[in-house]
Amino acid sequence: MDTGQKALAVLGSTGSIGRNTLEVVRANPLKFTVASLAAGNNLELLKEQALEFKPSFVSVATPEAAQELRSSLPSAVTVGYGVDGAVEAATLEVVEMVLSAISGSSGLIPTMAAIKGGKDIALANKETLVMAGPLVMAEVKKRGVRLLPVDSEHSAVFQSLTGHRRCDIKRIILTASGGPFLKTPAEALATVTPAEALRHPKWKMGRKISVDSATLVNKGLEVIEASYLFELPPSKISVAIHPQSIVHSMVEYIDGSIVAQMSNPDMKGPIAYALSYPERIEAGTPPLNLSGLTLEFMEPDAERFPCLGLSYEALRMGGSATAVLNAADEVAVEMFLKGGLSFTEIYRVVSEVLGRHRASEINSIDDVLEADAWARDAARGLIKYLN
Ligand SMILES: NC(=O)c1ccc[n+]([C@@H]2O[C@H](COP(=O)([O-])OP(=O)(O)OC[C@H]3O[C@@H](n4cnc5c(N)ncnc54)[C@H](OP(=O)(O)O)[C@@H]3O)[C@@H](O)[C@H]2O)c1
Repeated sequence: MDTGQKALAVLGSTGSIGRNTLEVVRANPLKFTVASLAAGNNLELLKEQALEFKPSFVSVATPEAAQELRSSLPSAVTVGYGVDGAVEAATLEVVEMVLSAISGSSGLIPTMAAIKGGKDIALANKETLVMAGPLVMAEVKKRGVRLLPVDSEHSAVFQSLTGHRRCDIKRIILTASGGPFLKTPAEALATVTPAEALRHPKWKMGRKISVDSATLVNKGLEVIEASYLFELPPSKISVAIHPQSIVHSMVEYIDGSIVAQMSNPDMKGPIAYALSYPERIEAGTPPLNLSGLTLEFMEPDAERFPCLGLSYEALRMGGSATAVLNAADEVAVEMFLKGGLSFTEIYRVVSEVLGRHRASEINSIDDVLEADAWARDAARGLIKYLN
């Protein structure tokens, strides 16, 4: 029976994007059902979500967590775990669209499996494109599925491209708030703490992406994501610092017109658009008050935030280089959060690992995982040496 509701798999349901997604679903009960949920270790919240949204399948990170969860859910709910569990959640027959929001490289395999399974994707996990952009885009075309961006910048570009000819694009401009250290002097950056780096002025996000926003690695990953998603060379992708986070990104056309998308900074907007495209639905984003609005734009400071340049370099190197950049950054950020690396050493680790890498062609997910493993080893070795 067709109820007109779209059946969703929500991967990373206990995270910042996952929770926002379930808020959008809660506000639009006639539009969506939740067929499956996948998360890591937050069993308390996952259990609450499963009882409220009644998926037939849930997945967690480990067999131990799965066993614990099984005893507290109705027997009709199947509980899986690990990569296989997340893949099963993403590929259940009933699922029509997968909201991909597991953090980091762990999001790649389930997202790729969903594409191969013919599911439309609402993509928050930027690492999927950063690590394996050409493979992912080829598979999207082959299977004829939709890949809709959830990242607010890419959603803004996607919306600003609608109705325009690709050949008329001069460049896209990704905006960046500048993060918590926008005004911090260069000499103070070496001693900033994880708690300070996690205090983002505009967005409430997971820990990894918050640190990446502070180093501007996140913007760099978004440049790579945009290059693959919109099939544009790095020379047509710019970044502008925009501290108010109201303009989420822009497209400049050859006639000098700039088309932008604006709203209050709230991820429910881009999530709702990706879930319901091409329709627009109630997202719960507070309306934007235009009176007295000040919008500032400035060039990123390449000296204080050198990580941004690394992404352009990785894109130019091509092949395995973007996966290497991503993996080295994941290791460095994890170590920074544990107190084992200073904030400015994140750049040192990522740039040295990228500098040592001989980029090779990526023909399969195994090639991607090999480059990822090489970069992790190299980053760990370097961090040991720095300590
Ligand atoms: N937050 C944002 O505003 C934002 C904006 C644009 C893009 N993104 C992207 O969206 C993704 C998620 O970001 P987030 O901020 O929502 O992160 P987050 O708050 O840290 O949440 C991560 C989610 O992934 C789950 N997870 C982590 N490792 C897993 C694994 N191995 N297997 C299964 N589940 C796993 C976590 O589960 P547990 O918590 O249960 O362990 C959690 O549900 C990232 O790729 C990020 O770059 C985020």
